[in-house]
Amino acid sequence: MYRYIGNKAKLLPFIMDKTRELIGCTGVVADIMAGTGSVSLEFRRQGYSVIASDIMTYSYHHLVVNLLLNESPAFAGLRHIPFNNTTPYEAVIDYLNALEAKKGFFFNEFAPDGKPESSCDPRKYFTSENAAKIDCIREQINSWIDLNQITNTEASLLKHTLIMAVNRVANISGTYGYFLSDFKKNALESIILTPIQFDETENVNHTVFQGFAEDLAENITADLCYIDPPYMKRQYAANYHILETIAKGDFPDAIGKSGLRDWWDQHSKFCTKTRGIDSFESVISKMNCDKFIISYSEDGLFSLQQLMECFAKYGSVDVQHIDYNRFRSNNSPLPKKLKEYIITIQK
Ligand SMILES: C[S@@+](CC[C@H](N)C(=O)[O-])C[C@H]1O[C@@H](n2cnc3c(N)ncnc32)[C@H](O)[C@@H]1O
Repeated sequence: MYRYIGNKAKLLPFIMDKTRELIGCTGVVADIMAGTGSVSLEFRRQGYSVIASDIMTYSYHHLVVNLLLNESPAFAGLRHIPFNNTTPYEAVIDYLNALEAKKGFFFNEFAPDGKPESSCDPRKYFTSENAAKIDCIREQINSWIDLNQITNTEASLLKHTLIMAVNRVANISGTYGYFLSDFKKNALESIILTPIQFDETENVNHTVFQGFAEDLAENITADLCYIDPPYMKRQYAANYHILETIAKGDFPDAIGKSGLRDWWDQHSKFCTKTRGIDSFESVISKMNCDKFIISYSEDGLFSLQQLMECFAKYGSVDVQHIDYNRFRSNNSPLPKKLKEYIITIQK
């Protein structure tokens, strides 16, 4: 499973039950802070038409794959790769896995044998071998995009596949906020792209956006909106900066010991005590939608009472309490169990 702060894979049955209770088994559902896309995918599987978005570029690629594909795309611009006895996607993955490693941006900025541009000590997010493999795969995908040899959807699929492989060999404890000083077992494995299984449910009328929920809300019309905001001060853009760099395919300045890219344009107000409530209000008041489900955590920035007071301005509010295993970095001293709230608003 994708280790992502706030991934709701384990809460899916509760979210789907609530959705059915509120709008029945069909309709348009918005998932406007969709992260890994696990909830969007389940909405699709349950037969809803999904509008999904997030501020992060990696999330955009996950959503394209989870919502817009149900089989291998044609990869018609890559006819020079032999598609013998495999799907075009599998052939392209084999081709990328066989590329010769290249000492590029990831090697220099994120591996022990590299030389960071800022002349700080080498970082250890990946072994040098894996970082050089990531470089050659990234640059090949960039070149296919620049030469118009792959479509946007095909590029999203390849980046999604690379991100999933990178997650398996990253030398981190939970997030990419920092790397571990010694390589752990999974980080020593060789990186290898593994083809994903496509969801075969009919993919009708799904839409994927990238942007701030507060800005997108006024252009969304839905029967129900699921809001799964960050509940801590930790910004996703800082904690998943390496995935964002893979998703964007760029070569940003890697700043400080941890090599963060500049992420201020993806700063979330939901992670702040001063502006989070205004952001909730902005989304709920602007969207053309009467029913909302909001996930929130007991140890979030806002108390249940603060949220209920805010939401009660817009309609009748109800809350369900669920015992949940907390997302923890390895060796975290925080208690393992906490309560997750599923709050509903009906305008
Ligand atoms: C708790 S996570 C969502 C997890 C998701 N439900 C899943 O299962 O993977 C919160 C998400 O909100 C996104 N986010 C934060 N602020 C946002 C904003 N103002 N507009 C849109 N997305 C935002 C983050 O990038 C992050 O992916």
